Amino acid sequence: MTAKPTKLLSPNPTIGVFDSGFGGLTVLRDLLPLIPGARYIYLGDTARLPYGSKSRETIARYAVSSAKFLEDQGADLLCIACNTASALALEDIQQAMPIPVVGVIQPGAEAALAAKSSASQQIVSEQNCHPERSAAESKDLSFSPEPPQASVLVLATTATTQSHAYAQSLNALGLAATEKACPLLVPLVEEGWIDHHVTAEVLRIYLNEAFAEAPNAQTLLLGCTHYPLLQPLIERTLAELNHPMTIIDSAAATAASVAAYFLPNSTGAPATSRFYATDSIEKFQRLGSAFLNQLLSEVHLLDLGG
Ligand code: DGL
Repeated sequence: MTAKPTKLLSPNPTIGVFDSGFGGLTVLRDLLPLIPGARYIYLGDTARLPYGSKSRETIARYAVSSAKFLEDQGADLLCIACNTASALALEDIQQAMPIPVVGVIQPGAEAALAAKSSASQQIVSEQNCHPERSAAESKDLSFSPEPPQASVLVLATTATTQSHAYAQSLNALGLAATEKACPLLVPLVEEGWIDHHVTAEVLRIYLNEAFAEAPNAQTLLLGCTHYPLLQPLIERTLAELNHPMTIIDSAAATAASVAAYFLPNSTGAPATSRFYATDSIEKFQRLGSAFLNQLLSEVHLLDLGG
């Protein structure tokens, strides 16, 4: 399980949030109401995006240099909102940083476990409401509230799936996992094609391929920062494929893990946010506003080198 913080930090902290691009703003969106008195510094390494198609060494080098920048800006804690950087470089970042570093993988896996547990409880309570059915089912030894091979299906970038970080975290929690790389989805979201027939077709192909491998998957974990923007399209596609699933977005679970490090804010001071991007400020403002659900006024251009 996620390590619980031994010492709680000030309720008005500086929190560094890092992603390879805009997607991590979905984590920031969930953090804002949880730690309202914080000063947030967000860095999107847009010049070097995508991380998801790069090697472990390159991802670690980029992520550590980005983390160092946020620490230099006074961050008390770092949230690595990028799934790929969390999957491949969390340990490198933690070793390089003297401050707590929270990634998205473990909170996402724990959220999947919580969702599966509550689904099982619902089945048990439905059985209690229908004792005649429960008695019949209890005699049927083949009956099980969930098929034994039911696994969590993780959609993520190629680098994340190849690292098997999600599978390892899910397996450690007793959950079977199937990981599916969806390399075309990030560029489609970056293009703004979040409700487009081409994206729908690509999704259908990926999901059909995944279901061929994991026909009993009932939980879908969105293992990439960009995928929450596709959630309405994913829900529609699953309905068309007649394959209902519980969808887990690790952003909310990650924000809750970060909030666990801080004392409650009693001052009522408003949050402030400062944004850095390593490529086009105009594009960051345009796409970032869709991820954060609000206008990004103050974005600074940053050169982190190659
Ligand atoms: N932020 C990355 C992730 O969550 C997606 C974009 C990229 O490939 O850099 O995996």
